Amino acid sequence: MKTDELRREYNSDDLRESNAADTPVEQFALWFQQAVDAKIDLPDAMTLATASEDGMPSARIVLLRGFDERGLVFFTDYQSQKAQELEENPRAALVFYWRELDRQIRVSGSVNTVSREESEKYFRSRPVGSQLAALASNQGEVIPNRQKLESKYKQLMETFRHKEIPLPPFWGGFRLSPDWFEFWQGRPNRLHDRLRYTQCSDEGWKIERLSP
Ligand SMILES: Cc1cc2nc3c(=O)[nH]c(=O)nc-3n(C[C@H](O)[C@H](O)[C@H](O)COP(=O)(O)O)c2cc1C
Repeated sequence: MKTDELRREYNSDDLRESNAADTPVEQFALWFQQAVDAKIDLPDAMTLATASEDGMPSARIVLLRGFDERGLVFFTDYQSQKAQELEENPRAALVFYWRELDRQIRVSGSVNTVSREESEKYFRSRPVGSQLAALASNQGEVIPNRQKLESKYKQLMETFRHKEIPLPPFWGGFRLSPDWFEFWQGRPNRLHDRLRYTQCSDEGWKIERLSP
């Protein structure tokens, strides 16, 4: 397979300083809505990159489960590799790629856990099967086989039949508070648009164009 022959042109929209929103969250909201309207599969899927204390990076997909001026929220197991790395080094990066719109969004910042109330509220909104799965799985733990997981799930299903499933103490949300966002719009001849928003004070964001 020759990957260097996989070329294609980017002919989508443009991204100009004159029509970019004043804040990255507004710009993100606009592009996110356009991704939803374009019926992109999993527009909420984002790559989360973390790094251990000694600088070893790791990345995986998680789902965006809310965003506002405070940041972008995802939920996970607090015993997982990502959570351990975030405890050692509470800084992370996120990447969205929406191929159908030739768009990429990069976000970088510091990460904190969300409140237990926020995790509880989201946990309650999940289908019962997902709630049980969170309880049944210690994410990242080595298990002997699939059957062990399934029998734990069935056992929990019995235990919590007609009962409320408790929010596992080891499960909840993280919020990444952005220091910067970069919006990338693919353009013809590789002359892509890149606008970076950097937080320069408590209130304001600086917008700069980056060379593609
Ligand atoms: C489409 C997709 C969505 C996912 N969403 C989540 C998520 O929201 N939270 C999560 O913990 N893992 C999610 N995962 C699984 C993670 O990619 C990863 O396997 C898991 O979180 C363990 O990562 P870690 O060992 O680096 O902590 C998702 C995977 C895919 C492919």
